[in-house]
Amino acid sequence: MQYKIIKDTNPRLRKKSEEVSLPLSKEDEDTLNFMLDYLIKSQDDKYATKHNVTPGVGLAAPQLGILKRMFAVYFTDENGNQHTHQLVNPKIVEQSVKEAAMKDGEGCLSVDKPHPGLVHRKYQIKLEAYDQYEKANITIDVSGYAAIVYQHEYDHLDGILFYDRIDKNNPDKKKDNEIII
Ligand code: NI
Repeated sequence: MQYKIIKDTNPRLRKKSEEVSLPLSKEDEDTLNFMLDYLIKSQDDKYATKHNVTPGVGLAAPQLGILKRMFAVYFTDENGNQHTHQLVNPKIVEQSVKEAAMKDGEGCLSVDKPHPGLVHRKYQIKLEAYDQYEKANITIDVSGYAAIVYQHEYDHLDGILFYDRIDKNNPDKKKDNEIII
């Protein structure tokens, strides 16, 4: 299958994705492998320059036009923990009241136009999923930057884009219970 990242002009990106049946089909495994492989290559300077690819830390199946609840992440957080996962049917089972936003806002491989402003998210989340990378059900408990990455990808499964979470009237206004990272 030829995979292609779709942009936010495509209405598919606004749809809610479906649960995936387990064990995974060959097709779903291929999609997960493509997503992780894409992220790894996108962070390789030489590859990214040659193929004109924007570096990414996360990619969700709906961004390929595939409306299934799957996403991949590949990044190192501020504590030096490596996050390499191919998640299927993730569920956020806990979230903090405290919120967090990145001072420089967020970007997305499906969004070309810059959308400056604070993207309000939960500071800490706990997520359960099947991880094809580890071939096991896992629980991920993260805070700060890592929690933001997982929430960004999770949102794609519900058709939500990062700029939906920016307050259009006060894009730079920090909330009382929010930390800026
Ligand atoms: Ni995105």
